[in-house]
Amino acid sequence: MSDNRGQFSSKIGFLMAATGSAVGLGNIWGFPTQAASNGGGAFLLAYLVLAFLLAYPALMSELVIGRHARANIVTALDELGQTRSTKRLGRAVGYYGVLVAGLILSFYAIVAGWMLSEFGQSVSQLIGWHTAETWLSSDSLLRHLLMCALFIVLTVAIIARGVEAGIESWSTRLMPLLIVILAGLIVYVLTQPGAIEGLKNYLIPDFTQLTRPSLLLSALGQAFFSLSLGVGTMLIYGSYLRKDDSLPRMGAGVTLLDTGIAFTAGLLILPAMYVAQAQGIAIYGDNGELLAGPGLIFQVLPSLFATMGNVGVWLSIAFFALMSIAALTSSISMLEAPVSVVTERTALKRVGAAWLMGGIIFTVSTIIVLNMERLFDRVVSLTTEYSQPLLGIALCLFVGWIMKRNQLLNELRAGHRDIEHSLFWKIWPFYVRFICPVLILLAFTQSLR
Ligand code: PHE
Repeated sequence: MSDNRGQFSSKIGFLMAATGSAVGLGNIWGFPTQAASNGGGAFLLAYLVLAFLLAYPALMSELVIGRHARANIVTALDELGQTRSTKRLGRAVGYYGVLVAGLILSFYAIVAGWMLSEFGQSVSQLIGWHTAETWLSSDSLLRHLLMCALFIVLTVAIIARGVEAGIESWSTRLMPLLIVILAGLIVYVLTQPGAIEGLKNYLIPDFTQLTRPSLLLSALGQAFFSLSLGVGTMLIYGSYLRKDDSLPRMGAGVTLLDTGIAFTAGLLILPAMYVAQAQGIAIYGDNGELLAGPGLIFQVLPSLFATMGNVGVWLSIAFFALMSIAALTSSISMLEAPVSVVTERTALKRVGAAWLMGGIIFTVSTIIVLNMERLFDRVVSLTTEYSQPLLGIALCLFVGWIMKRNQLLNELRAGHRDIEHSLFWKIWPFYVRFICPVLILLAFTQSLR
């Protein structure tokens, strides 16, 4: 099977693709706003600790399983099992994982469709295309559905081209662009009146908040979502990694880049909110809390751009391009999870599988759009708050208890010859066996209260 599977052509290719998966709306929207409403620097600190202590080891589990099996999550977990029941359990966990990946994509694509709409609206404004501008700003069902469909078509088109020509080549084009746009926007926003106030709000820690269990939970959930854990996306990317690349280093690179970009995004979003406030735009909701949800992205920031005349139009184009790119490189990894299961376990080829899965996901998105009030938040919490941590525990348990120690060592040794003497090998196997599952479970049960 491994002969005609795709493979990333270089370390950079893998890093761009995996970081592309990790860096998404969760980093640029979720992280800064969570930080602002949970004690600023204190949240940042908790997040960094949890990302490296819990999310990184869990990420490593996925990468190790993926590259060891060189297969999708279902086949990989099936092959790890030595008895009929562990094999069956493996397949069940695998199918659950890709189901969750598909469900995440179905709500993610709706939000990404809104980002595309805002982008299109600003471009139409720039070129004076008023009919399009009005339509794109309307709240019609048709607009929600068409823009969501457009986003899914873009995602499918990339996945249909395969690992190297699709995932790798688009991630290596889009990720540098994302970083350049982000940096450019930060430089501009930081020179505006009010920005420093926002920086203070973001960075000065309110340590009293550290004792709140909900802070740790939000930070843990955010870290798992941000590193795309549990749903087979990192596992499948790991399976396309070459044998001579070091897994612990690649995993550390992805974690560093992901947390680094989340932190950097905070340097844009929080100052921008306070610049908006300096312009007289309300940034606190009726409950006295900082706006964090859709109101922030689709009202506060557009109103801010509108006060800035022509520059504002360009800023708006850049900002929504940034959001759309971040969403796209994440959504391709979400789609690759189910597509790889279909292509490797049925006779269907990649192109057919990609369109089929895209179609199913769009159908689910449509159902959510038609029942927005009732379904949207439920699907988000079911997938990201409940399923991702549980799946994370399952994958750690597979590596810790079902995968044999010499299989683990052999896999890690490929690309990292002296691994046996490293700190990583001394700590990590024990860690994923006992500590990670228990800590994730603890955090998880707290959240059920
Ligand atoms: N990591 C992505 C983000 O931060 C979301 C994601 C979750 C991507 C699960 C893939 C799988 O937005």
